[in-house]
Amino acid sequence: MSNLTKTFRRRGVGSVEAVKGVSFSVPRGTVLGLLGPNGAGKSTTIKCILGLISPDAGDMQVYGYDVQRDPRSALKRMGAVLEGSRNVYWRLTPRENMNFFASIQGHDPRRDREYHDHLVERLDLTDRVDRPVLELSQGMKQKVAIACALVRRTPLLFLDEPTLGLDVQTSHEMRSLLRGLVEDEDRTVVVSSHDMKVVQEVCARVIIIKDGVVVADDLTRNLLALFRTRAYRIEMPTDLPAPVLGQLQARFARAGVNASPGHYELEVEVTEPADLYELMDVLRDAGVIVEGIYRDQPDLERAFLRIVDGGRESRGDVRA
Ligand SMILES: Nc1ncnc2c1ncn2[C@@H]1O[C@H](COP(=O)(O)OP(=O)(O)OP(=O)(O)O)[C@@H](O)[C@H]1O
Ligand SMILES: [Mg+2]
Repeated sequence: MSNLTKTFRRRGVGSVEAVKGVSFSVPRGTVLGLLGPNGAGKSTTIKCILGLISPDAGDMQVYGYDVQRDPRSALKRMGAVLEGSRNVYWRLTPRENMNFFASIQGHDPRRDREYHDHLVERLDLTDRVDRPVLELSQGMKQKVAIACALVRRTPLLFLDEPTLGLDVQTSHEMRSLLRGLVEDEDRTVVVSSHDMKVVQEVCARVIIIKDGVVVADDLTRNLLALFRTRAYRIEMPTDLPAPVLGQLQARFARAGVNASPGHYELEVEVTEPADLYELMDVLRDAGVIVEGIYRDQPDLERAFLRIVDGGRESRGDVRA
């Protein structure tokens, strides 16, 4: 997809440039994460690719089919669960919904029964599968919507906020389900999410959109490496004497103590790996008991915030 542009115009309200020249491509058999603050243009981008909104400019190809010129062929290859979607029939049961969506795609639901059962089990819907959807909870409805998108077996799948409103266990299951889609079924998935855990665990590549523009497009592990810091947390049973803390602050970046009853944590950032010896020497000389040392793991949330809030921090910090 290249140079996608969309401006919403409302009479009397002015216009909103939702997407300003977004370009990216998704290699087959990968999961791409679409990140960005509220209103960044993620959903608008997805809706344009699905042909639900017509863009002002841009060229979108799905498996070689042009979305605007040949929407039928393109749509046949795409499935989606949109945010807050109500694309399932509430009077039907989850099983009936799944059969319906499978058959409109030309699949024989009887032959796909095993796959449907597998999904129902993975999504923990077994005891609700024959009850009308309207009797289900919000999260369960979301799971039924996801199941209905999956049973169409389209090679490309868009999931806009798939784990929104799901409980911890289900969100966990959803992550392994998403990984399975790529590993076992060779599908291509585009996921938009504000849940960094989902993205970090599932997406090999991440695109960050801000104000309708792509501000980062890289492998997840590269984004993480970019913001890897040498921050350590050192657990101590007693507080650090003030002069020792002063000595550390003079020598190391961001040295500070988090205190809670009976538990003290020294946080400190070192530049070179060998600086850790020096840090330990200072603590030993001061007679500080060290109960544990932990290195802060880089996480996507921090990387995301630094990129998105980049303008507010110093550039040098962002590229640290
Ligand atoms: N139908 C519409 N009419 C007018 N403006 C719209 C419409 N849909 C979206 N917008 C505007 O376009 C911008 C991008 O919205 P979009 O829904 O794509 O953001 P998003 O990245 O999906 O955000 P979120 O994380 O909150 O879901 C916003 O400023 C929004 O107000
Ligand atoms: Mg959205």
